Amino acid sequence: MGVSVFVVDGGRRLSGEVKVQGSKNSALPILAATLLCRGESVLHNCPRLSDVEASLAILRYIGCTARREGDTVIVDTGSVTRFEIPPELMHRMRSSIIFLGAMIARFDRVRMTFPGGCELGPRPIDLHLSALREMGVEIGEEHGELDCRVRDMLHGANISLPVPSVGATENIMIAAALATGTTVISNAAREPEIVDLADYLNACGAEIHGAGESTVVIDGVESLSPAVHTMIPDRIVAATLMSAAAATGSDILMRGIIPSHLRSVFPVFRNSGCEITVKREGVRITAPYRLQSPKLIRTMPYPGFPTDAQAPVMSMAAVADGMTVFVENIFTSRYSHVSELCRFGADIRVEGKVAVVDGVKRLLSANVRAQDLRGAAALVVAALCAVGKSEISGIEYLERGYEDFELALSSLGADVKKI
Ligand code: EPZ
Repeated sequence: MGVSVFVVDGGRRLSGEVKVQGSKNSALPILAATLLCRGESVLHNCPRLSDVEASLAILRYIGCTARREGDTVIVDTGSVTRFEIPPELMHRMRSSIIFLGAMIARFDRVRMTFPGGCELGPRPIDLHLSALREMGVEIGEEHGELDCRVRDMLHGANISLPVPSVGATENIMIAAALATGTTVISNAAREPEIVDLADYLNACGAEIHGAGESTVVIDGVESLSPAVHTMIPDRIVAATLMSAAAATGSDILMRGIIPSHLRSVFPVFRNSGCEITVKREGVRITAPYRLQSPKLIRTMPYPGFPTDAQAPVMSMAAVADGMTVFVENIFTSRYSHVSELCRFGADIRVEGKVAVVDGVKRLLSANVRAQDLRGAAALVVAALCAVGKSEISGIEYLERGYEDFELALSSLGADVKKI
C-alpha cells in the first residue's frame, strides 16, 4: 500500500448509477467472529478494503486460511495455532481490538498490544476490558501489552454500558456467544452492524436476542458451526455518495442501499433541498441547483445522525446557502478535515465540539492532505465540487473504508485519477 494521491478535476455534475459496497463495519467484527467456529465460513458482499486485508492478515497469522473469490471471502478457522496478535498487525488497524472477545472465547487466552491511538483522538477500550473482566477474564495490562486469560470459566454477566459503545457491544456479544450462561447487555449500541453481526452468529447457532435494541440477551451455547452470510451495504459510503451528489448538483441512483439504515441521514439532504426517492432498484438523489444549509447537525449513537457521515456532509454544507452548525458528540477530535476544507475556500470555524460552517458560493481547487478515513472522504467531496484540478494526498486513509472509490466516482462521470 503505497502513498496514494487523487487528482480530481472538479466542478462537473455526476450522473448515472452506482452499487454501494458491503459494510466495512460489519465485515470487521464478523471476520473476527469466524474464530468462534471450526470450519469454513463464507462471507458475501465483503468489501475490498485495507482494513479487511488487515483482518485477514490477523486471521492468517493465528493459523486460519482466508481467500477471496470476487466479493466473497472464505475463512477456514479449523487449524488455528496462535493466541496472540503481533504489534505490527495491531497497529495496522485500530479496530483489531474486535479480535479480543473472539480469541478469548476460542482460546481462553489472548495476548495483544493496546490498539494504536488514531486520528480521532484517544480510542479507550476500558469498556471492553471491564466487561470481559465481569465475564471471568483476567486481564493484565503493562507496557501497552494486554495479557488475558480465562480464570476458571468464561461466564455470562449483566453488563451495563455507560455509553452505547459499538466495539464494546460487539466484543461482549462475541465472547458471550460461547460463555457459560446468559449475558445481558444494557445500553447496547443499536447500529445495523450490530444486528448484522448477531445475524451471522445466530446463523452459526448462537442464541442472541434483541440485537439492534438497547438491551441484548445472549444465551451461551456449547459450540458454533460456520455459516454463509451476506454483509449489509455500507450506509456511510452511501451517505458519502449522497454528499458528493448534493455538492455537485447531481442526479444519481445508488443500488443496494437499505433505506431504513439512513433514516437520520435522508432528512439532512431533504432539508438541503435534495429530492430523495426510494425505488425498487435503489435510492435516487436529485440535488437542487443551489443547496440550502441543513442548519444544525448533531452526531449521536444510532439511530441518530452518524458521526462517520459528519465529515463528508460538512463538505456539502460548505457550499450550501446559509449557516450550518455541527456538534460532534461522539469523538473528541473529529475535525481534522476542517483546516483542509478551508484551503478549498470553505468558511468554517471550530470551537471545541462545535463547528460553524458559513456556506460559500463555490469552492476553489486546492492541494490538500487527508489525515483520517472520513476526513479523506470529505476532501474528495470538496474536490469534486471545486472548479479546477485538486490534488489529495493521504488517500491510503480513504482506502481503509472505500472500495475503489475513484472507479465508483468515475463511473458517475467524475474526473478522478489515482496516482
Ligand atoms: C465504531 O468505532 C466504528 N468502527 C467507528 O467507525 C464509528 O465512528 C464508531 O463505532 C461510532 O459509531 C467500527 O465499527 C470498526 P465506540 P468504536 O466504541 O467501536 C468511547 C469509521 O469511520 N469509548 O462506539 O471504536 C469512545 O472514545 C470508524 O468507519 C470509551 O470511552 O466506537 C467514543 O467517544 C471510525 N471506552 C465513544 O465511546 C471504550 O471502551 C464511541 O465509541 C470504548 C469507547
